[in-house]
Amino acid sequence: MLKKDNTLIFSGASPAKVMKDLQPLVDFQDEGISTEELNQMLEEKLLPHLMKYNHPGFLSMFNDFPEKGAKMGAKLSLEYNQGVTDWYVSPGGAMLEELCIKALCSLFKLDAGSDGTFMYSGTYANQEALYLALHWKAEQEGFDFSQEGFRGFKNPERLVVLTSVDAHFSLKHAVRILGLGDKNLLTLEVDKNRRIDISLMQEAIEKLQENHDIFCVVATTGTTSTGSIDNVQQIFEVCQRIDAWLHVDGAYGLAYSLVPEYRERFSGIEFADSVSWDPHKQFGIPIPNSILFVRRKEDFNRMALRSDYIYREGESVPSPGLKSPPSTRPFSALPLVTSIRHQGITKIHERLRSPLQAIESIYNTLKTDSEIELCNEPETGIICFRIKNEQISENQMNRFLKLVYEDVISEGKHSISFTKLGNKAVLRLVAITPTTAEILMKTISYVKKKASIVANRGVQS
Ligand SMILES: Cc1ncc(COP(=O)(O)O)c(C=O)c1O
Repeated sequence: MLKKDNTLIFSGASPAKVMKDLQPLVDFQDEGISTEELNQMLEEKLLPHLMKYNHPGFLSMFNDFPEKGAKMGAKLSLEYNQGVTDWYVSPGGAMLEELCIKALCSLFKLDAGSDGTFMYSGTYANQEALYLALHWKAEQEGFDFSQEGFRGFKNPERLVVLTSVDAHFSLKHAVRILGLGDKNLLTLEVDKNRRIDISLMQEAIEKLQENHDIFCVVATTGTTSTGSIDNVQQIFEVCQRIDAWLHVDGAYGLAYSLVPEYRERFSGIEFADSVSWDPHKQFGIPIPNSILFVRRKEDFNRMALRSDYIYREGESVPSPGLKSPPSTRPFSALPLVTSIRHQGITKIHERLRSPLQAIESIYNTLKTDSEIELCNEPETGIICFRIKNEQISENQMNRFLKLVYEDVISEGKHSISFTKLGNKAVLRLVAITPTTAEILMKTISYVKKKASIVANRGVQS
């Protein structure tokens, strides 16, 4: 039996051990077992291996424990198992989703004509944004993309999406699933703080336009690796000049635009054609909870598919499923609504501000730390760094950091992440929940200790 240890983020067990523990759960039998037995089995076998996102040492990913108000809405939504396809499937669900979207557009200060749709994840929101951009491009060429598909374009092979080298890989999924290819997703160089470099972007576009049609540019407000915020206002001006759709991937970062003193960093989002956001990240809303906003509500007409049994022609009842697939949709608006109502906007600002301030504070402390090389100047809640060690050469650094990372996470006491900025490996600390600089520094000290153990052990493979 596994020892219950509440000080751990997760058991730290190997995949082989987790597999052995979980196997009895899928030993499907003719006879069922009592809920008490089942509960005991889950507690003993499964719970130790789940990540405790509310643990102060969990500093690796964008996941969060459900906020109290959100939990209340999620419970109700589960109890009634509401699908919010349309009015006839759930009148209250469909209407609440519509009202929630309207209120969010105003909270984020989006254009008065904006609209939005709940989606399963940021990945799908990005995909739908690119699909809408293709429609828009097709309309410029005088045909309906939903009817003609790519064969309607004069030169489909010239179509490209431009984004940052640090953009999320979901954009690669998007181009592939849309029937484009990786070759149709071109990346732009970043400046020293890993935002799209606007002057290099202008030069790149001039060259690209000889052989490509740039139909969409994706800016990221809060990149996955460093939390950097692309300059949306300037990118919007470029998009206007080259007549391209502007999508803003705010899956991680958009929430921070609500904090008054951070809003300016996001200026220009109100001009974007589409914006994605994941309330299932730092907002603490249970998964799935993502949203795609569009600046002109009519753009969603391109998604609408009518049928004889739902979404009937000529009916004008609230139908969330006309704006994005699938037809059976979770009642995602409810936990978001109950969370915002329970906390109030002031508390939400405090909740979002706390990790941003803690990260900024440790950045200032670590600037003078001779054992640390800082790799980004935090614009949101992420700091990337390397551990300096005189026993480790630059050539060995990537391997060294990977070993440090593996040592740190294998104990289940602290959780950081490992990634690469270009070819350079870095350790990454993500603050999502309310925290303090002191708590973050405890993890940094732990990582340093592990680093000296790894350096003394040696990094030869
Ligand atoms: C910037 C960014 N975009 C998109 C995504 C994908 O979102 P999801 O995990 O909800 O599919 C992520 C995920 O972390 C992200 O950081």
